[in-house]
Amino acid sequence: MTRYIINNSSDAYGKPIYLKGNITVQGAKNSALPLIAAAVLSDSEVELYNCPEIADVENMMKIFSSLGGRTERIGDNVRLKMEDMRSHEIKSELAGELRSSVFMLGSVLARAGAAKVAYPGGCDIGLRPIDIHLKALREMGVRIREEYGYLLCDATNAHGAEVTLDYPSVGATENVMLLAAGIRGSTVIHNAAREPEIEDLGNFLSMLGAAVEGAGTQIIKIEGTDKARGAKFRVMPDRIALGTYMIAAAVCGGEVTLSAARPEHVFSLIGKLRESGAEVDYNSDSVSVRADGRPKAVGIVETGTYPGFPTDLQAPFSVLAAVSEGSTVIVENIFETRFKHLAELTKMGVSVKVKGRVAVFEGVRTLSAAQVQAMDLRGGAALMLAGLKARGTTVVENGLHIERGYAAPEKVLNALGASVTKVRNK
Ligand code: EPZ
Repeated sequence: MTRYIINNSSDAYGKPIYLKGNITVQGAKNSALPLIAAAVLSDSEVELYNCPEIADVENMMKIFSSLGGRTERIGDNVRLKMEDMRSHEIKSELAGELRSSVFMLGSVLARAGAAKVAYPGGCDIGLRPIDIHLKALREMGVRIREEYGYLLCDATNAHGAEVTLDYPSVGATENVMLLAAGIRGSTVIHNAAREPEIEDLGNFLSMLGAAVEGAGTQIIKIEGTDKARGAKFRVMPDRIALGTYMIAAAVCGGEVTLSAARPEHVFSLIGKLRESGAEVDYNSDSVSVRADGRPKAVGIVETGTYPGFPTDLQAPFSVLAAVSEGSTVIVENIFETRFKHLAELTKMGVSVKVKGRVAVFEGVRTLSAAQVQAMDLRGGAALMLAGLKARGTTVVENGLHIERGYAAPEKVLNALGASVTKVRNK
């Protein structure tokens, strides 16, 4: 069991932490995962630079190996080679909580002509259905049988197609891109997700030999190839890790510079932090946040698809809302149960009322330390941020959730002057 201990001050009246310093943003979890899936398409070696050392990536590499691939990690670089595919069964048990085993579907179907995957259950933030994935794959000629909790897929007659997604699902867009890139023929995706990770995947698939246009926009055109080559590719910076640490500076007060960042990926957050009274500046590859004194409430925050306010920053941002002067409304439009961290935050003195997908915060001046449970990845990060602000020593249990997506958050925060210890009990 992993827990994070955040020691804010030696006594109950100690001054809260003031974060100061320069950190480098990790590679993007939500790009690395589909990129590892894409490596299944080639029988040559693929090298991914800036591939974060986090649990979800390590689990995805285990799935890649279980299919017959070779993987090797050298620091932040990962080498992958699927010379001979031994299996087309995506072992979801290797995925743990990892939903991304579903993203493997498209590339396994393209490479092996068939795939078997356990029907992914829901998770901490919602039912996470995959109906949009399945509808699009069927429109591309994939035959899918649902049997005994498994999806048995046959892509013998898979072909390019013009598909329209009923909703711009990130995973469904990626699955269609992965299948389309790995078979001969033309595919057009309408109402595609526009998240930056989609653009990263499109660039990588083009390096493998597919012709991909429009990735990152609502219409993506793909000319596939059945002879994918190898490639060396740098994973984009993680915009959610970037946003999480920007919010930490606004919550605690501080002067923090985040390097190897893509500021354009977090413009929606930059606007909100400026409204809260923080000073945010940026250049092409770094963002700096300066904040002092009590943040001001920003009124309303609604999560949305990119370039709207990211649902993955909703939980971390709720900590800023909780300590701002005034009241803040947060509306979670993407997932149906993504407020589980709020019950834990109320143990630390947060004043919030929840009705369905709407949370209304009455800002409080201080938080008090407590022993709290991380329920999911981003909610766990929120509890760590609250611990930085709370008087006393906060213990965040179930730290495995946090390790899924943040590379050594204790090291990052301690480099900024915090006092966070990670304890891993056997
Ligand atoms: C990706 O999940 C990310 N995960 C999520 O990040 C992120 O929150 C989400 O996109 C939205 O940006 C990865 O990239 C690995 P969706 P995904 O399909 O693909 C519904 C994190 O914390 N939906 O865009 O699962 C779905 O239920 C994680 O890093 C269907 O109804 O997101 C949800 O309500 C959490 N049917 C909404 O669409 C489908 O077939 C958005 O889902 C697919 C999705």
